[in-house]
Amino acid sequence: LELQMNLEEIEKGGYDHFMLKEIYEQPRAIKDTYRGRLLADQGLIRMAGIDLNMEKFLNANRIIIVACGTSWHAGLVAEYIFEDLARIPVEVEYASEFRYRNPVITDKDVLIAISQSGETADTLAAIKLAKEKGAFVFGVCNVVGSSIARESDAGAYTHAGPEIGVASTKAFTTQITVLTLMALKLAKAKGVFSESRYHEYLCELETIPGKVEKSLESNTLIEIIADVYKDSTNCLYLGRGYNFPVALEGALKLKEISYIHAEGYPAAEMKHGPIALIDEHMPVFVIATKKGHYEKVVSNIQEIKSRKGKIIAIVTEGDEQVKDLADHVIEVPETLESLTPLLTTIPLQLISYHIAVMRGCNVDQPRNLAKSVTVE
Ligand code: G6P
Repeated sequence: LELQMNLEEIEKGGYDHFMLKEIYEQPRAIKDTYRGRLLADQGLIRMAGIDLNMEKFLNANRIIIVACGTSWHAGLVAEYIFEDLARIPVEVEYASEFRYRNPVITDKDVLIAISQSGETADTLAAIKLAKEKGAFVFGVCNVVGSSIARESDAGAYTHAGPEIGVASTKAFTTQITVLTLMALKLAKAKGVFSESRYHEYLCELETIPGKVEKSLESNTLIEIIADVYKDSTNCLYLGRGYNFPVALEGALKLKEISYIHAEGYPAAEMKHGPIALIDEHMPVFVIATKKGHYEKVVSNIQEIKSRKGKIIAIVTEGDEQVKDLADHVIEVPETLESLTPLLTTIPLQLISYHIAVMRGCNVDQPRNLAKSVTVE
């Protein structure tokens, strides 16, 4: 037993929990994911799974993304990226809903299945169904040789390395990395991107690991904030555009490991319901990075403030406007709007982690949850 415990300590690499280790591994994991694919100096993205099947993607009527849990949130970010950059229509579905609702699928559809484990039963069933109907199936998995990877017609692995913590962290950011590379490649092939815009993206992607590293430096501040809100019973997470799915993911992380009820919402939808919940006991996490509807998010923050909600804002480095309104601000470096999820996710992972630890929860193995759900 002692030997086993020591082994686990070694595996955790000096961190208290796998989740924290995996959060801190993200700069490296993202780099590993684009290594050999992103060749910025040559102005090239190399992905065999896309290159060999380019026609399928270019002739597709639409892309359907199916996934569960955190992978579904990565799918939502991908919807914004594919539509915004590559101008291809995208639908994102929970695999469990998709497989049972008699969906219209044709051989002109491309289905992307996103799964860390590659073993999620609903996602696997969804791709089998899509294949039967003639769709082209592309898998984005982390586990090499997994069932979904094997069932797919083609695919691209995330190279996040093993993820042990039940709450997904590095799998999420590496999924977004792969999906961004795919969207950029398709945008280029479709000719919807100018050479200079394409180049700007490739170069900016290469700066992301360093910027994730920078975002992790807020850890001490985040621990202080976590201590203030650790006894909350409810939390709200708001974001717009590319950062709406990040709000959902932030809320999911908190629910999963700290057992605090949390809801993610598109910031503008707040007035259609959640605003009724806001009082001085409600912490509201708002993603308010520059660009991407910044002014609109600022006015959402004002609405929360006038109802005495507590505001924890994720802002772009050097932001002054939100600083004056929010109770706490956590900075992330500036980047292109479509790449912001890779940075804004980091503080939300850390806040959930610290709150869960302070509440004495089993961070790596939360109650009732499994790392991979291989039954319906
Ligand atoms: C479980 C895990 C989540 C994960 C989801 C989908 O619920 O606890 O962390 O996001 O399954 O898993 P997959 O392996 O398909 O990404």
